[in-house]
Amino acid sequence: MAGEYVRMVEVGPRDGLQNQRQVISTESKIRLVDLLSKVGFGTIEVSSFVSARWVPQLADAAAVFAGITRRDGVVYSALTPNLKGFETALAAKAGEVAIFTSASEAFCQKNINCTIDESFERFAPIVEGAKKHDIPVRGYLSCVIRCPYSGDVTPDAAARVADRLYQIGCREISLGDTIGAGEPCSITKMTMAVCDYVPAAAVAGHFHDTNARALDNIEACLPLGIRAFDTAIAGLGGCPYAPGAKGNVSTLDTEKMLAGLGFDCGLDTARLEDADRFARSLVTQSARS
Ligand code: HMG
Ligand code: MG
Repeated sequence: MAGEYVRMVEVGPRDGLQNQRQVISTESKIRLVDLLSKVGFGTIEVSSFVSARWVPQLADAAAVFAGITRRDGVVYSALTPNLKGFETALAAKAGEVAIFTSASEAFCQKNINCTIDESFERFAPIVEGAKKHDIPVRGYLSCVIRCPYSGDVTPDAAARVADRLYQIGCREISLGDTIGAGEPCSITKMTMAVCDYVPAAAVAGHFHDTNARALDNIEACLPLGIRAFDTAIAGLGGCPYAPGAKGNVSTLDTEKMLAGLGFDCGLDTARLEDADRFARSLVTQSARS
């Protein structure tokens, strides 16, 4: 295990900023992505191509993509709920797209205004287009432990939708504990259920830190062979359609914990601290204004 690589997917510019009360300027978002680009992440989730009425904070996704300085070896990804989002992401030269659905019907309705089945109907042309353009597709599954509207979600319910995402061609399934309700025992059960369908190498953990258990939950996934985790710089974030969803687990804290356990995340700590400071300054300014 010593020195084994763990891939950290930086989702702060998207998951972190989508829920800020004040809109962060496009220039600041670009600077944040540029700072993150120097840290050593293989993937940075830059923004979402969703309806500006639903998520006004990320309405400038195309401008952010156009303004960033791309580094070799970094994949700049975007969330795309439907074909319209995929086409805009393609025009913005996103290197990966992420489709997103839920293990809970109620959250799916609140978040993307459709049933789980309908979400898969929307994904089909995205997957087809992505294949044509040789763009990898990631699949997000929200509410794998609990839904803020309908309560607990069984491991089997999460596993079945994860399997559907995998079957349609997602190269990685990111398991979202959207409201941070998980703890090591429930995360272990749910992840084991998912791994009955999806290989551990194609599974990522996406843990919000509402109850300060996200680091413990990451640690619980390691013996199951999970080696990819989504984190947000400075622990920014939350989902506007999930009341109570606090930030994602902090990138810096996760990197420190994993390094302490002997894993290598391939990140430059000094540059990570720079990006962390800048991200904190953004939300502090936004909270004051
Ligand atoms: P809808 O209202 O059902 O869609 O929304 P519609 O097709 O009826 O279109 C309504 C309007 O949106 C139209 O504009 C469309 O053109 C426009 P109008 O004619 O009224 O001016 N529209 C779009 N505009 C830009 N980009 C698009 C797009 N599609 C339609 N792609 C829709 C359906 C999916 C669009 C909407 O519900 C939506 O945008 N939802 C996004 C919600 C969201 O981004 N949530 C946060 C991300 S998920 C998350 O955070 C969880 C995650 O982190 C994992 C975890 O933690 O669990 C991933
Ligand atoms: Mg999230």
